[in-house]
Amino acid sequence: MTPRSPQQKTYHTSNPVAETAIDRTIPDLPIAQLSDEDKYFRTHKAPPYLPEIEQQVNDFIEYHASNTGKRIVLVTSGGTTVPLENNTVRFIDNFSAGTRGATSAEYFLENGYAVIFLHREFSLLPYSRHYSHTTNCFLDYMTEVNNKVEINPDFADEMLVVLRKYKEAKESQSLLLLPFTNVNQYLYTLKLMAILLQKIENKALFYLAAAVSDFFLPQSRMPHHKIQSQAAGKLIIDLEQVPKFLRRLVDNWAPSAMIVSFKLETDHLILIDKAKGALDRYQHQLVIGNLLQTRKKEVVFVHPDGSEVWIRLTDEQKAKDMDIEGLIIPAVIKEHSQWIEKYSK
Ligand code: PMT
Repeated sequence: MTPRSPQQKTYHTSNPVAETAIDRTIPDLPIAQLSDEDKYFRTHKAPPYLPEIEQQVNDFIEYHASNTGKRIVLVTSGGTTVPLENNTVRFIDNFSAGTRGATSAEYFLENGYAVIFLHREFSLLPYSRHYSHTTNCFLDYMTEVNNKVEINPDFADEMLVVLRKYKEAKESQSLLLLPFTNVNQYLYTLKLMAILLQKIENKALFYLAAAVSDFFLPQSRMPHHKIQSQAAGKLIIDLEQVPKFLRRLVDNWAPSAMIVSFKLETDHLILIDKAKGALDRYQHQLVIGNLLQTRKKEVVFVHPDGSEVWIRLTDEQKAKDMDIEGLIIPAVIKEHSQWIEKYSK
Protein backbone atom coordinates (compact mmCIF):
# COMPACT_ATOMS: atom_id res chain seq x y z
CA MET A 1 0.00 0.00 0.00
CA THR A 2 1.27 3.47 -0.81
CA PRO A 3 1.94 5.35 2.43
CA ARG A 4 0.03 8.63 2.63
CA SER A 5 0.31 11.74 4.74
CA PRO A 6 -1.28 11.25 8.17
CA GLN A 7 -4.05 13.77 7.44
CA GLN A 8 -5.07 12.08 4.22
CA LYS A 9 -7.92 9.69 3.70
CA THR A 10 -7.63 7.19 0.85
CA TYR A 11 -10.36 7.19 -1.82
CA HIS A 12 -10.88 4.47 -4.37
CA THR A 13 -12.25 5.99 -7.51
CA SER A 14 -12.22 2.78 -9.52
CA ASN A 15 -15.31 1.34 -7.77
CA PRO A 16 -18.62 1.81 -9.65
CA VAL A 17 -21.52 3.74 -8.14
CA ALA A 18 -24.38 1.25 -8.15
CA GLU A 19 -27.23 3.76 -7.94
CA THR A 20 -26.45 5.75 -11.08
CA ALA A 21 -27.13 3.24 -13.84
CA ILE A 22 -29.63 4.43 -16.44
CA ASP A 23 -30.93 7.16 -14.19
CA ARG A 24 -34.25 8.20 -15.75
CA THR A 25 -34.60 11.18 -13.41
CA ILE A 26 -31.83 12.89 -15.38
CA PRO A 27 -33.14 14.46 -18.59
CA ASP A 28 -31.24 13.17 -21.60
CA LEU A 29 -31.89 16.36 -23.56
CA PRO A 30 -31.39 19.40 -21.35
CA ILE A 31 -33.01 22.74 -22.12
CA ALA A 32 -31.55 24.45 -25.15
CA GLN A 33 -30.09 27.64 -23.67
CA LEU A 34 -27.58 25.89 -21.44
CA SER A 35 -23.95 25.76 -22.55
CA ASP A 36 -22.41 22.35 -23.25
CA GLU A 37 -20.53 22.53 -19.96
CA ASP A 38 -23.67 23.36 -17.97
CA LYS A 39 -25.53 20.57 -19.75
CA TYR A 40 -22.81 18.17 -18.78
CA PHE A 41 -23.00 18.95 -15.06
CA ARG A 42 -26.81 18.97 -15.16
CA THR A 43 -26.97 15.51 -16.66
CA HIS A 44 -24.12 13.83 -14.77
CA LYS A 45 -24.00 13.17 -11.06
CA ALA A 46 -21.10 14.31 -8.91
CA PRO A 47 -18.94 11.59 -7.35
CA PRO A 48 -20.28 10.88 -3.84
CA TYR A 49 -16.91 11.52 -2.14
CA LEU A 50 -16.64 15.11 -3.48
CA PRO A 51 -17.71 16.88 -0.24
CA GLU A 52 -14.94 15.08 1.69
CA ILE A 53 -12.37 16.10 -0.89
CA GLU A 54 -13.65 19.66 -0.65
CA GLN A 55 -12.90 19.67 3.06
CA GLN A 56 -9.38 18.28 2.55
CA VAL A 57 -8.54 20.78 -0.17
CA ASN A 58 -9.90 23.69 1.87
CA ASP A 59 -7.72 22.60 4.80
CA PHE A 60 -4.68 22.30 2.52
CA ILE A 61 -5.19 25.76 1.01
CA GLU A 62 -5.86 27.28 4.43
CA TYR A 63 -2.79 25.62 5.94
CA HIS A 64 -0.47 27.02 3.28
CA ALA A 65 -2.12 30.44 3.22
CA SER A 66 -1.73 30.80 7.00
CA ASN A 67 1.58 29.01 7.61
CA THR A 68 3.87 28.76 4.61
CA GLY A 69 2.67 31.28 2.01
CA LYS A 70 3.57 28.77 -0.68
CA ARG A 71 2.15 29.02 -4.15
CA ILE A 72 -0.11 26.07 -4.99
CA VAL A 73 -0.04 24.14 -8.24
CA LEU A 74 -2.76 21.75 -9.31
CA VAL A 75 -1.05 19.06 -11.36
CA THR A 76 -3.38 16.72 -13.28
CA SER A 77 -1.89 13.44 -14.33
CA GLY A 78 -2.68 10.17 -16.09
CA GLY A 79 -5.51 9.11 -18.38
CA THR A 80 -9.25 9.28 -17.75
CA THR A 81 -11.38 6.21 -18.45
CA VAL A 82 -14.72 6.14 -20.24
CA PRO A 83 -16.81 3.35 -18.67
CA LEU A 84 -19.16 1.43 -20.98
CA GLU A 85 -21.07 -0.17 -18.10
CA ASN A 86 -21.98 1.16 -14.66
CA ASN A 87 -20.69 -1.99 -12.96
CA THR A 88 -17.62 -1.45 -15.03
CA VAL A 89 -16.07 -4.47 -16.70
CA ARG A 90 -15.22 -2.65 -19.91
CA PHE A 91 -13.96 0.85 -20.42
CA ILE A 92 -12.07 2.94 -22.96
CA ASP A 93 -8.69 4.18 -21.79
CA ASN A 94 -5.56 5.85 -23.10
CA PHE A 95 -1.83 5.27 -22.89
CA SER A 96 -0.82 7.81 -20.24
CA ALA A 97 1.07 6.30 -17.30
CA GLY A 98 1.30 9.63 -15.45
CA THR A 99 5.06 10.01 -15.88
CA ARG A 100 4.85 13.67 -16.89
CA GLY A 101 2.56 14.58 -14.02
CA ALA A 102 4.34 12.62 -11.26
CA THR A 103 7.79 13.83 -12.32
CA SER A 104 6.62 17.42 -12.67
CA ALA A 105 5.07 17.32 -9.19
CA GLU A 106 8.47 16.41 -7.70
CA TYR A 107 10.15 19.38 -9.39
CA PHE A 108 7.39 21.75 -8.27
CA LEU A 109 7.86 20.53 -4.69
CA GLU A 110 11.62 20.97 -4.92
CA ASN A 111 11.05 24.52 -6.13
CA GLY A 112 8.93 25.48 -3.12
CA TYR A 113 5.40 24.88 -4.40
CA ALA A 114 2.65 23.04 -2.56
CA VAL A 115 1.16 20.48 -4.93
CA ILE A 116 -2.37 19.11 -5.31
CA PHE A 117 -1.79 16.00 -7.37
CA LEU A 118 -5.02 15.05 -9.15
CA HIS A 119 -4.12 11.73 -10.66
CA ARG A 120 -5.53 8.58 -12.19
CA GLU A 121 -5.73 6.05 -9.37
CA PHE A 122 -2.88 3.51 -9.61
CA SER A 123 -0.90 5.61 -12.10
CA LEU A 124 2.58 6.89 -11.20
CA LEU A 125 2.93 8.95 -8.02
CA PRO A 126 5.67 11.43 -7.09
CA TYR A 127 8.65 9.66 -5.43
CA SER A 128 7.22 6.13 -5.49
CA ARG A 129 7.37 6.37 -9.30
CA HIS A 130 11.10 5.63 -9.06
CA TYR A 131 10.33 2.14 -7.81
CA SER A 132 6.69 1.23 -8.45
CA HIS A 133 6.39 0.75 -12.21
CA THR A 134 9.98 -0.07 -13.16
CA THR A 135 10.80 -3.30 -14.97
CA ASN A 136 12.31 -4.55 -11.70
CA CYS A 137 10.18 -6.01 -8.97
CA PHE A 138 10.51 -3.75 -5.91
CA LEU A 139 12.08 -6.71 -4.11
CA ASP A 140 15.05 -6.36 -6.47
CA TYR A 141 15.91 -3.22 -4.50
CA MET A 142 16.29 -5.33 -1.33
CA THR A 143 18.88 -7.78 -0.15
CA GLU A 144 19.17 -10.21 2.72
CA VAL A 145 21.91 -9.68 5.29
CA ASN A 146 22.08 -11.83 8.44
CA ASN A 147 18.47 -12.86 8.19
CA LYS A 148 17.36 -9.24 7.79
CA VAL A 149 16.11 -7.27 4.80
CA GLU A 150 18.25 -4.31 3.78
CA ILE A 151 18.37 -2.00 0.79
CA ASN A 152 20.69 -3.35 -1.89
CA PRO A 153 23.82 -1.13 -1.67
CA ASP A 154 23.71 -0.67 -5.47
CA PHE A 155 20.54 1.41 -5.07
CA ALA A 156 20.98 2.80 -1.56
CA ASP A 157 22.58 6.18 -2.41
CA GLU A 158 20.00 7.04 -5.02
CA MET A 159 17.16 5.85 -2.79
CA LEU A 160 18.38 8.01 0.08
CA VAL A 161 18.09 11.11 -2.11
CA VAL A 162 14.52 10.19 -3.11
CA LEU A 163 13.61 9.25 0.48
CA ARG A 164 14.78 12.61 1.83
CA LYS A 165 12.77 14.54 -0.75
CA TYR A 166 9.70 12.40 -0.08
CA LYS A 167 9.96 12.89 3.70
CA GLU A 168 10.39 16.62 3.24
CA ALA A 169 7.26 16.83 1.07
CA LYS A 170 5.31 14.78 3.59
CA GLU A 171 6.51 16.53 6.74
CA SER A 172 5.95 19.99 5.26
CA GLN A 173 2.43 18.85 4.26
CA SER A 174 3.11 20.10 0.76
CA LEU A 175 1.67 17.22 -1.25
CA LEU A 176 -2.02 16.35 -1.43
CA LEU A 177 -2.88 13.26 -3.46
CA LEU A 178 -6.37 13.11 -4.98
CA PRO A 179 -7.42 10.31 -7.33
CA PHE A 180 -9.83 9.98 -10.24
CA THR A 181 -10.55 7.09 -12.54
CA ASN A 182 -13.19 8.14 -15.04
CA VAL A 183 -13.70 11.35 -16.96
CA ASN A 184 -16.76 12.35 -14.89
CA GLN A 185 -14.79 12.18 -11.63
CA TYR A 186 -11.97 14.16 -13.27
CA LEU A 187 -14.24 16.95 -14.52
CA TYR A 188 -16.14 17.36 -11.26
CA THR A 189 -12.95 17.39 -9.21
CA LEU A 190 -11.18 19.82 -11.55
CA LYS A 191 -14.11 22.24 -11.34
CA LEU A 192 -14.20 22.01 -7.56
CA MET A 193 -10.43 22.52 -7.20
CA ALA A 194 -10.55 25.56 -9.46
CA ILE A 195 -13.32 27.20 -7.46
CA LEU A 196 -11.56 26.50 -4.14
CA LEU A 197 -8.23 27.79 -5.44
CA GLN A 198 -9.84 31.15 -6.26
CA LYS A 199 -9.01 32.01 -2.64
CA ILE A 200 -5.31 32.35 -3.45
CA GLU A 201 -5.95 34.10 -6.78
CA ASN A 202 -2.83 34.43 -8.92
CA LYS A 203 -0.71 32.28 -6.60
CA ALA A 204 -2.57 29.29 -8.05
CA LEU A 205 -1.16 27.51 -11.07
CA PHE A 206 -2.94 24.88 -13.17
CA TYR A 207 -0.66 22.39 -14.89
CA LEU A 208 -2.98 20.15 -16.89
CA ALA A 209 -0.90 17.16 -17.94
CA ALA A 210 -3.70 14.57 -17.72
CA ALA A 211 -4.78 12.95 -20.97
CA VAL A 212 -8.51 13.71 -20.88
CA SER A 213 -10.95 11.64 -22.96
CA ASP A 214 -12.51 13.50 -25.85
CA PHE A 215 -15.51 11.14 -26.12
CA PHE A 216 -17.71 9.51 -23.49
CA LEU A 217 -20.92 7.57 -22.88
CA PRO A 218 -23.50 9.71 -21.00
CA GLN A 219 -24.76 8.33 -17.67
CA SER A 220 -28.33 8.31 -19.00
CA ARG A 221 -27.38 5.68 -21.59
CA MET A 222 -25.01 3.58 -19.52
CA PRO A 223 -26.16 -0.02 -18.90
CA HIS A 224 -26.20 -1.13 -15.28
CA HIS A 225 -24.60 -4.53 -15.85
CA LYS A 226 -21.96 -6.01 -18.09
CA ILE A 227 -23.03 -5.88 -21.75
CA GLN A 228 -23.91 -9.42 -22.82
CA SER A 229 -22.10 -10.55 -25.95
CA GLN A 230 -24.97 -12.86 -27.05
CA ALA A 231 -27.57 -10.07 -26.82
CA ALA A 232 -25.33 -7.44 -28.42
CA GLY A 233 -24.07 -9.38 -31.44
CA LYS A 234 -21.94 -6.59 -32.84
CA LEU A 235 -21.09 -3.92 -30.28
CA ILE A 236 -21.67 -0.48 -31.75
CA ILE A 237 -20.66 2.29 -29.36
CA ASP A 238 -22.24 5.69 -29.82
CA LEU A 239 -20.15 8.22 -27.89
CA GLU A 240 -20.79 11.91 -27.25
CA GLN A 241 -18.09 14.56 -27.34
CA VAL A 242 -16.81 15.67 -23.93
CA PRO A 243 -17.38 19.44 -23.75
CA LYS A 244 -14.17 21.49 -23.81
CA PHE A 245 -13.98 22.69 -20.23
CA LEU A 246 -10.79 24.65 -20.60
CA ARG A 247 -12.58 27.83 -21.67
CA ARG A 248 -14.87 27.60 -18.67
CA LEU A 249 -11.84 27.07 -16.43
CA VAL A 250 -10.12 30.17 -17.81
CA ASP A 251 -13.19 32.44 -17.78
CA ASN A 252 -15.21 31.37 -14.77
CA TRP A 253 -13.66 28.77 -12.50
CA ALA A 254 -10.13 30.14 -12.16
CA PRO A 255 -10.05 33.64 -13.65
CA SER A 256 -6.95 34.84 -11.73
CA ALA A 257 -4.81 31.72 -11.94
CA MET A 258 -2.18 30.94 -14.56
CA ILE A 259 -3.25 28.00 -16.70
CA VAL A 260 -0.89 25.69 -18.54
CA SER A 261 -2.35 23.01 -20.79
CA PHE A 262 -0.60 20.32 -22.77
CA LYS A 263 -1.14 19.43 -26.41
CA LEU A 264 -0.30 15.91 -27.44
CA GLU A 265 0.03 14.98 -31.08
CA THR A 266 1.66 12.17 -33.03
CA ASP A 267 2.19 14.17 -36.28
CA HIS A 268 4.90 16.83 -35.87
CA LEU A 269 3.50 18.81 -38.81
CA ILE A 270 0.38 19.83 -36.90
CA LEU A 271 1.69 20.22 -33.33
CA ILE A 272 2.36 23.98 -33.36
CA ASP A 273 -0.87 24.84 -35.20
CA LYS A 274 -2.89 22.77 -32.75
CA ALA A 275 -1.18 24.43 -29.78
CA LYS A 276 -1.87 27.89 -31.23
CA GLY A 277 -5.46 26.86 -31.93
CA ALA A 278 -5.90 25.87 -28.26
CA LEU A 279 -4.56 29.27 -27.12
CA ASP A 280 -6.92 31.08 -29.51
CA ARG A 281 -9.90 29.06 -28.36
CA TYR A 282 -9.31 29.07 -24.62
CA GLN A 283 -7.32 32.32 -24.15
CA HIS A 284 -5.05 30.91 -21.45
CA GLN A 285 -1.36 31.57 -20.84
CA LEU A 286 0.71 28.64 -22.09
CA VAL A 287 0.41 25.46 -24.12
CA ILE A 288 3.19 22.92 -23.83
CA GLY A 289 3.24 20.88 -27.01
CA ASN A 290 4.66 17.38 -27.08
CA LEU A 291 4.81 14.48 -29.50
CA LEU A 292 4.05 10.98 -28.33
CA GLN A 293 7.29 9.69 -29.80
CA THR A 294 9.66 12.31 -28.31
CA ARG A 295 7.79 13.62 -25.25
CA LYS A 296 10.50 12.56 -22.80
CA LYS A 297 13.25 14.42 -24.70
CA GLU A 298 11.69 17.60 -26.05
CA VAL A 299 8.65 19.87 -25.66
CA VAL A 300 7.68 23.24 -27.09
CA PHE A 301 6.29 26.20 -25.11
CA VAL A 302 3.75 28.08 -27.24
CA HIS A 303 2.60 31.51 -26.01
CA PRO A 304 -0.37 33.74 -26.86
CA ASP A 305 1.99 36.17 -28.70
CA GLY A 306 2.83 33.32 -31.11
CA SER A 307 6.35 32.68 -29.78
CA GLU A 308 7.61 29.09 -29.69
CA VAL A 309 10.40 27.99 -27.37
CA TRP A 310 11.73 24.47 -27.68
CA ILE A 311 13.09 22.80 -24.55
CA ARG A 312 15.36 19.85 -25.27
CA LEU A 313 17.59 17.58 -23.25
CA THR A 314 21.20 17.76 -24.43
CA ASP A 315 23.03 14.52 -25.33
CA GLU A 316 24.90 14.79 -22.04
CA GLN A 317 21.66 15.18 -20.09
CA LYS A 318 20.15 12.23 -21.97
CA ALA A 319 23.20 10.12 -21.12
CA LYS A 320 22.70 10.98 -17.44
CA ASP A 321 19.04 9.95 -17.74
CA MET A 322 17.90 13.40 -16.64
CA ASP A 323 14.17 14.15 -16.52
CA ILE A 324 13.05 16.77 -19.03
CA GLU A 325 10.70 18.02 -16.29
CA GLY A 326 13.88 19.30 -14.58
CA LEU A 327 14.01 21.85 -17.43
CA ILE A 328 10.27 22.34 -17.94
CA ILE A 329 9.30 23.21 -14.36
CA PRO A 330 11.81 26.07 -13.71
CA ALA A 331 10.71 27.60 -17.04
CA VAL A 332 7.02 27.32 -16.08
CA ILE A 333 7.74 28.79 -12.64
CA LYS A 334 9.51 31.76 -14.25
CA GLU A 335 6.38 32.44 -16.30
CA HIS A 336 4.18 32.03 -13.22
CA SER A 337 6.31 34.61 -11.36
CA GLN A 338 5.88 37.02 -14.28
CA TRP A 339 2.13 36.32 -14.24
CA ILE A 340 1.92 37.10 -10.51
CA GLU A 341 3.93 40.28 -10.95
CA LYS A 342 1.81 41.45 -13.90
CA TYR A 343 -1.46 40.59 -12.20
CA SER A 344 -0.48 42.22 -8.89
CA LYS A 345 0.15 45.66 -10.45
O1 PMT B 1 1.69 10.34 -18.70
P1 PMT B 1 2.78 10.30 -19.73
O2 PMT B 1 2.97 8.93 -20.30
O3 PMT B 1 4.05 10.91 -19.21
O4 PMT B 1 2.29 11.23 -20.95
C1 PMT B 1 2.19 12.61 -20.76
C2 PMT B 1 1.20 13.24 -21.77
C3 PMT B 1 1.71 13.02 -23.18
C4 PMT B 1 -0.18 12.59 -21.60
C5 PMT B 1 1.12 14.77 -21.43
O5 PMT B 1 2.39 15.34 -21.61
C6 PMT B 1 0.08 15.48 -22.31
O6 PMT B 1 0.34 15.87 -23.42
N1 PMT B 1 -1.17 15.64 -21.77
C7 PMT B 1 -2.32 16.24 -22.46
C8 PMT B 1 -2.89 15.28 -23.45
C9 PMT B 1 -4.27 15.68 -23.88
O7 PMT B 1 -5.24 15.26 -23.30
O8 PMT B 1 -4.35 16.53 -24.84
P2 PMT B 1 -5.75 17.07 -25.47
O9 PMT B 1 -5.44 17.66 -26.75
O10 PMT B 1 -6.81 16.01 -25.47
O11 PMT B 1 -6.21 18.16 -24.44
C10 PMT B 1 -5.55 19.39 -24.38
C11 PMT B 1 -5.93 20.12 -23.11
O12 PMT B 1 -7.34 20.38 -23.12
C12 PMT B 1 -5.58 19.28 -21.88
O13 PMT B 1 -4.69 20.03 -21.10
C13 PMT B 1 -6.91 19.09 -21.17
O14 PMT B 1 -6.83 19.47 -19.82
C14 PMT B 1 -7.90 20.02 -21.90
N2 PMT B 1 -9.17 19.35 -22.16
C15 PMT B 1 -9.22 18.20 -22.86
C16 PMT B 1 -10.44 17.59 -23.10
C17 PMT B 1 -11.60 18.19 -22.59
N3 PMT B 1 -12.78 17.64 -22.76
N4 PMT B 1 -11.53 19.33 -21.89
C18 PMT B 1 -10.35 19.92 -21.69
O15 PMT B 1 -10.31 20.97 -21.09
